Amino acid sequence: MKVTIIGSGYVGLVTGACLAEQGNNVFCVDVDSKKIEILNSGGVPIYEPGLKEMIERNRAAGRLQFSTDIAASVAHGDIQFIAVGTPPDEDGSADLQYVVAAARNIGRHMSTPKVIVDKSTVPVGTADKVLAAITEELNNRGLSPELCSVVSNPEFLKEGAAVEDFMRPDRIVIGTQNTPAGLRAKEQMRKLYAPFNRHHERTYYMDVKSAELTKYAANAMLATRISFMNELANLADLVGADIEAVRQGIGSDSRIGYGFLYSGTGYGGSCFPKDVSALSKTAIEHGRDLKILDAVEAVNEAQKYILVEKIEKRFGADLKGKKFAMWGLAFKPNTDDMREAPSRVIIQELVKRGAQIVAHDPVAMPETRHCLEVDFKGNPEGLKQVTLVDDPMVATQGADALVIVTEWKAFRSPDFDLLKAKLKNPIIFDGRNLYEPQAMQELGIEYQGIGRHN
Ligand code: NAI
Repeated sequence: MKVTIIGSGYVGLVTGACLAEQGNNVFCVDVDSKKIEILNSGGVPIYEPGLKEMIERNRAAGRLQFSTDIAASVAHGDIQFIAVGTPPDEDGSADLQYVVAAARNIGRHMSTPKVIVDKSTVPVGTADKVLAAITEELNNRGLSPELCSVVSNPEFLKEGAAVEDFMRPDRIVIGTQNTPAGLRAKEQMRKLYAPFNRHHERTYYMDVKSAELTKYAANAMLATRISFMNELANLADLVGADIEAVRQGIGSDSRIGYGFLYSGTGYGGSCFPKDVSALSKTAIEHGRDLKILDAVEAVNEAQKYILVEKIEKRFGADLKGKKFAMWGLAFKPNTDDMREAPSRVIIQELVKRGAQIVAHDPVAMPETRHCLEVDFKGNPEGLKQVTLVDDPMVATQGADALVIVTEWKAFRSPDFDLLKAKLKNPIIFDGRNLYEPQAMQELGIEYQGIGRHN
């Protein structure tokens, strides 16, 4: 099938590459000419395991192309995926300007029937807005809006395992309109996703609004679990219980399950923060305050400061002359995504208290450099307090303590003797509970996890 992907970011690139891998002819378009240049010269602007190889393979086979040419992109695909960003607005609701701009472009250029797919995470009711924008453009050109139908097909991939998730999804959600064009669109979507349903059916067909809400419900549920566990971990710290034992104790209940029960430094990334907030705003627009979401957000905000609080308690509020090694900067492992990463708050807060930071991340250092410029804008002295190094052990040289923020596999079993020799004080503040407190005690390392107890 001929498919166009509008927006070649994390979701657009993965969707495009995976659909090409299944034999479709895919045209990825983006307004960011730098991104397209990188892609057309054989690079990939983001880090995602397996993506580079998949893109190379499908470009070489002539099934995947990248361009900034909007008219050509609209002409190409019978199915047009909108996979542009939906960042938070000033008030926390989803900013739909990029989605609507993409829709208008489709309406301005289309001349044959199209299925328009909302792949971006968008609030309930957005499919109607997309259809209205396209209809207006078609009307301006004297064309009939019956030429198109809007489908909601939210994406559930996880950064860091995006290719794997897309190729082997837990489920595929497809929301279609109950109109003749909607039913035709459903059939085209069924054909497009057929290869992903090979061993058993994974697709849930529903109405458009339910599909739109399903995506927010999933992210809000996962964020809720994280905030809940963070609350419990903080309580465990106070009462002297071990959150890891509690996690196993409740995860073994099949009604609860083990997933997303880890405490840490709070969730970040481009999805949970903005999606929880956008869902909350949607509810308020409809006269309902979803109090649980307010609590999830408040707990998460506070949790980003938990390591700073522990460091303050240990070293005092004035950290002048103190140096901290930091391992892990990306908001989670296997990605270079720094959007809303807790590390950014922790770095800012430690520097504010006079500390120096020497940090390392296996892949997110270029992104971090860019983020530090933004976060320390107008504070060049603060920026000078942060150094990035290529080797995690180099970061620990002469440091007053090691602070772990992201649970990269490479940090799971370091050479602890070497680590002890490098650190000025053998102290670890572990925001991801990577090590056993008992083992750390035996090694003579002062260890503070989140809710951990011997
Ligand atoms: P991104 O920021 O990485 O990529 C968006 C791309 O769209 C950018 O390259 C931008 O230049 C391009 N763009 C903006 N307006 C355009 C237009 N009119 N025409 C063509 N290109 C345009 O964003 P990401 O992370 O891929 O997210 C996209 C959507 O998918 C968001 O709604 C997000 O919430 C959702 N999502 C993201 C996931 C993730 O893990 N990143 C997972 C599931 C959903």
